[in-house]
Amino acid sequence: MTAKPLILTTALLGLALVTTASYTLAKPGVKMVYGAPESKVSSVPYKGAYVEGGDVVTALPEIKKVPNAKTHHVRMDMTHRMVEIDDGVMLEGWTFGDSIPGPTIHVRQGDKVVFTMTNRSGDDATVTFPMPHSIDFHSAMVNPLDKYRTIGAGQTITFEWTANYPGVFMYHCGTPMLLHHMIMGMYGTVVVDPVGGYPDKVDREYVIVQSELYTKPKDPANPNVLVSDVESAKRKSPSHVLFNGRINQLVNNPLKAKPGERVRLYVMNVGPTDTSSFHIVGTIFDKVYLDGNPSNLLRGMQTVLLGSSNGAVVEFVVPETGKYAIVDHEFADASLGAVGFIDATDGKGPKVSH
Ligand code: CU
Ligand code: CU
Repeated sequence: MTAKPLILTTALLGLALVTTASYTLAKPGVKMVYGAPESKVSSVPYKGAYVEGGDVVTALPEIKKVPNAKTHHVRMDMTHRMVEIDDGVMLEGWTFGDSIPGPTIHVRQGDKVVFTMTNRSGDDATVTFPMPHSIDFHSAMVNPLDKYRTIGAGQTITFEWTANYPGVFMYHCGTPMLLHHMIMGMYGTVVVDPVGGYPDKVDREYVIVQSELYTKPKDPANPNVLVSDVESAKRKSPSHVLFNGRINQLVNNPLKAKPGERVRLYVMNVGPTDTSSFHIVGTIFDKVYLDGNPSNLLRGMQTVLLGSSNGAVVEFVVPETGKYAIVDHEFADASLGAVGFIDATDGKGPKVSH
C-alpha cells in the first residue's frame, strides 16, 4: 500500500532537485551560447573616448542598473600612463580604459557584449614604450586563440561574447609575460546579474577589487615615481595590497551605508598571485555567493576566501551606527594596505582610530 506513494514521493523529490540544480540552464529565455563569430582586427586610427558603454561600464566602486538592451556595445582602450596610487606618488602603469583597475562591466545573464578595444600604448611616448596587449574575459566562453589574441600598438580588435553564467568575473591582459602585464595594472571586473537579479533586495551596492602591486622607485633618489618590479612579483613579495587601486582608497573614501541597511558587495581578487581572506569587522556575511553564482550560496560567513581571480557576491546587514573595517584577514596583506571602511556614522557616532 505504501510502496506507490513512496516511489511517487522519491520521483517528485528527484524532479525538485534536478529543477533546482539546473536553474541556469532552465531559466526561461536563457540559452547557452558557445563560441562567437571570428574576431576582427583593424589598423584604422582611433582617437575617441577610452571608454564607451553608457551605464554598462562604471568606475570603481560604482555599479549601475543594467540597461534593458540584450546587446551591449563596450569599448575599453589600452593605454600606458602614470597613475597616481597615493598623494603625489605615481606608478608607471598599463591600463584598460585608462585606469587601474580597469572599469567594471555590468551586464545580465544571456546578454551579448560586442567588445572593441584599441591598443593605444603608443599614444603617450613618455611612459615606457608601445607594447602588444590582449584581453581575456573570464566571463566568456570563446576560443582564446581568436578572441584573446594579442594586438599591436595602433590596432583595434572587435569580438563578441555572451554572458552564459551569472557572477563576478575577472578580465585581464593575457599577453606574455603575463605576470608582468598583470602587475602593471591590466585587470578589472565583469558583473553578470542572474536572470531576475539576485534573490534579495539591497539598499547599497559597491564593487571592490583587491590587487597586489610590486613596485620599486624608478630612480632611488625619487621615491615618488614607482615602476613595477617583476623580480619581487616572482618572489610573491608585494609592496602594496590595495582595495580599488589606490593606497587608502576606501579609508579616505569609505563606502557609505546607513544602520539597518542591507549591503551587497561585488568583490574580486585579481591577485595576480595572492589570496584574499575578505572580512568585515563588526558584521557577518548573511549570504555569500562564491564567484557570484546564486547556486553557490553560503550563509553566515565571517570571512570569504578568494583565490587569485575568484570573485564573490557578499551581502550583509549594517547592524548599527558605526564604522566597519573592511580587511584582508591575512594581516600581512592588511598591513600592506588591504584596509577600508563602511561608514554608517552619518558624520556622527564613535570615532575610529587606525
Ligand atoms: Cu598587456
Ligand atoms: Cu585568467
